[in-house]
Amino acid sequence: MVFHGLRTLDDADVKGKRVFLRVDYNVPLDKDGGIVDDYRIRQSLPTIKKLFSMGASQIILASHLGRPKGVDDAFKMNGVAERLMKLSGRSVDVMEGWDHVSEFIPGADEASIVLLDNLRFHGGEESDDEGFARELAALADFYVNDAFAVCHRKHASVHAITRFLPGCVGLLVEREVKVFDSLAEGGERPFIAVLGGAKLETKIPVIKRLLDRVDHLLLGGGMIFTFYKAKGLGVGKSIVDNDFVDMARMLGHNEKVVLPGDVVIADDRDNPAHALNVTIDKIPSYMFGLDIGKESVERFKGLLGSAKLVVWNGPLGYYENPRFAEATNDLLGFLAGHPGVKTVIGGGDTVAIVEKLGLRDKFFHVSTGGGASMALLEGRDLPGIEALRAGIEK
Ligand code: 3PG
Repeated sequence: MVFHGLRTLDDADVKGKRVFLRVDYNVPLDKDGGIVDDYRIRQSLPTIKKLFSMGASQIILASHLGRPKGVDDAFKMNGVAERLMKLSGRSVDVMEGWDHVSEFIPGADEASIVLLDNLRFHGGEESDDEGFARELAALADFYVNDAFAVCHRKHASVHAITRFLPGCVGLLVEREVKVFDSLAEGGERPFIAVLGGAKLETKIPVIKRLLDRVDHLLLGGGMIFTFYKAKGLGVGKSIVDNDFVDMARMLGHNEKVVLPGDVVIADDRDNPAHALNVTIDKIPSYMFGLDIGKESVERFKGLLGSAKLVVWNGPLGYYENPRFAEATNDLLGFLAGHPGVKTVIGGGDTVAIVEKLGLRDKFFHVSTGGGASMALLEGRDLPGIEALRAGIEK
C-alpha cells in the first residue's frame, strides 16, 4: 500500500512554525493567461486551513505552472495568487524572482501566506538540484507535500527537499493516495474499469495491472482498433498501433476485456460529411472509427449499473469533435446518476471532461493528477511519496 507508513498532518507539530507547502497549481490557462479551471487551487484549501488551525505561523506555498524554459511572464504566479486570495479570503504575497530566495526573511507577525514564483523558472527544480532544494528548505521549518499531481516527478521541491526538512503529506495527497490504494485492493465488487485513449502502447501497463484486479475492463478510444486488427477485422483508416497488434491479441483473449461490438465511423475526424453507427465487421476502407457505438453504450451501462466500484480513465471517442464525444458524455452522465456506484475519475483529460459536463461533484473522487494517478494505477511508485517516506524512516 502506497499510503502505509506515511506521516500525515495529524502526526505533525507545526505550532509556531513556518511551513513550506508544495502544492500543484499547474492550472489550465486560456490564451490570455486566464485560469480556465481552478479545481487544483480549491483542492489545496483544506490543508491551508488546517495548517493555520494547527498554529502554523506562516505558509510558504510553492508550485510550478506550465512548462516554461526559464523565466517567462506568461507563466508567472500572479493570476494564481489572485484566485487563491479570492478563494481563501486571505492575503497572499507573491515572492517574485529566484535570485532572492536565500535572502528571503519572512517578516509577518501574524499568520500569512507567501506564494513563491513559478518553481520551474529555476533550472534546479526539474533537475532535482540539491542546492536549490536546500535554499527552498531554508525558508521554512517544516515541509508538507500536498502536490499529488506532480508526485510522479523527481523534482527538487517534491523530492530532494525532503532531505533537508522534516515533513508529511497534506490532506489532498492523503486522500488521493488512499483512494488509489483502495483501487489496488479492489475490495468492492463488482469492480469495473473503463479505459479510453488513442494509443494502445501507452495503456498497456495499466491494462495489465487492472486485469489482475477488476471484474471487467471496458475498452474504448482509438486503441480498440488495434484489438480489432488483431482479430483480423478491417479497420479502415482508424488509428492502429501496428507494433502492438500481437500484444492486443494476447490481451484480447482475457475474458475480462469487453470490446465494443459497434462503433461510430466517419469520412473525416473534424468535418465529417457522413457519420454512421456500424458493427465492427463493417468498417469500410475509407472511413475512420471515431467513437464507440450506441449498442455498446447500452451494453456498458448494463455492466456499470451493477458495479460497486468503477475507475475511469480516458475518453471513449475522438473527444475533440462533439459528434464523437457522445458515448463518453452519455456514460459519464449515467454513472453520475448512480451514487451507489463508487466512481473514481483518474487522469487529466477525463477530469476536464467531467468538469465541462458539470458533473465533478457527482463522483466519489475526481483525481487532481493525470500522470500521477496513471502511475498509481500502473502500480508504480511516486518519487515524491517515496522520498517523504524515506525521510521519515531516517
Ligand atoms: C500535471 O499537470 O500533470 C502536473 O502538474 C505535472 O506537470 P508536468 O506534466 O508538466 O510535469
